[in-house]
Amino acid sequence: MTPSILITGGAGYIGSHTAVALMEAGHKVVILDNLCNSDARVLDRLRRLAGNAFEFEQGDVRDAALLDRVLARHAVNSVIHFAGLKAVGESVAQPLRYFDNNVGGTFSLLQAMERADVRHMVFSSSATVYGDPEQVPIPETAPLKATNPYGRTKLVCEDMLRDLQRADPRWKIAMLRYFNPVGAHPSGLIGEAPSGAPNNLMPYIAQVAVGQRDCLNIFGDDYPTPDGTGVRDYIHVMDLARGHLAALEQLAKRQQSITVNLGTGAGISVKQLVETFARVTGRPIAHRYVARRAGDVAVCYADTTLARATLGWQAEHDIARMCEDAWRWQSMNPTGYTN
Ligand code: NAD
Ligand code: UFG
Repeated sequence: MTPSILITGGAGYIGSHTAVALMEAGHKVVILDNLCNSDARVLDRLRRLAGNAFEFEQGDVRDAALLDRVLARHAVNSVIHFAGLKAVGESVAQPLRYFDNNVGGTFSLLQAMERADVRHMVFSSSATVYGDPEQVPIPETAPLKATNPYGRTKLVCEDMLRDLQRADPRWKIAMLRYFNPVGAHPSGLIGEAPSGAPNNLMPYIAQVAVGQRDCLNIFGDDYPTPDGTGVRDYIHVMDLARGHLAALEQLAKRQQSITVNLGTGAGISVKQLVETFARVTGRPIAHRYVARRAGDVAVCYADTTLARATLGWQAEHDIARMCEDAWRWQSMNPTGYTN
């Protein structure tokens, strides 16, 4: 039986794009998702893009019996673990739900992998583990600290994975710290479909452009940055998807665990992103400046040296391309997967 790669959370934003990249590279894929933050209609879109090279299992990563069945039935040989909750504000209000889902889910998955003798994992970590960074660009060796429960769940999972790999070198784990994933597949068939008002900047801009929202609130114009607005490292989701492929290949080839930043290394301000989106799409983006959002840092962008050296990977798409693809997705699917 041909081995499969298990993608937990594969119906979600980053997971669905990574599934396409893996299938295009010839891998067999099995997606496990409980659809708590995604729509089953994404699966039809995946079939249109990649044919029937994947299987879908609906369920929760905290369900041990289900994991045992899935790992055995599909001859899984490695796992990419995206499944998790990711809304910072919600994590402050419901910390136990976040620890249960993100830490409990990762723990349950690792136990099942151990039982099945599957020890290659790529884990979705985040630049949030750097807290308010002391220096930019941020190297992987920067101090780790969390500033909210969501970030703490990522740190706890990273610690658990480090302990595991120290205890048993058969475990090969890639911890990928994403910066700000944006954009969509160039077909416009899959993309980011947040439920309710978007928390993140790019989907908010795209919803203003398509007429779903009236006006973008820019959180703060008094940061110590060139134009006073927050600076982030936006990375095209297809570049991110390729990063996962590169990480899996390195785990298999070099048999070594890896912790790397996935970003472009460039800092872009909120104002620059708004202006680029308007220029590329020809749509004006109504906006107003409001107070800073609690917990936001001024500047966050990646040192990408290690990703280039260990994965042979670097981001290729620029900010204009990110806006173009985000807009194609949004204009073809004004209300996400529901239309
Ligand atoms: P997403 O919400 O679109 O995808 C996550 C998927 O996991 C969803 O389809 C959801 O239904 C599923 N899921 C959640 N809990 C589950 C569970 N217990 N069992 C099975 N399925 C479950 O989010 P995304 O943006 O694709 O993020 C994927 C991963 O990357 C997350 O772990 C997130 O924390 C991490 N990450 C995201 C960003 C970002 O800005 N998008 C940045 C850094 C890290
Ligand atoms: N912003 C606005 N208006 C909005 C939304 C965002 O001005 O409506 C600004 C923010 O203040 C920030 C920038 O746009 O300066 C980017 O904000 P996002 O919410 O898109 O992204 P963050 O960098 O705040 O957060 C992201 C993920 C988090 C993760 C963090 C660090 O959403 O989960 O990166 O990795 F913790």
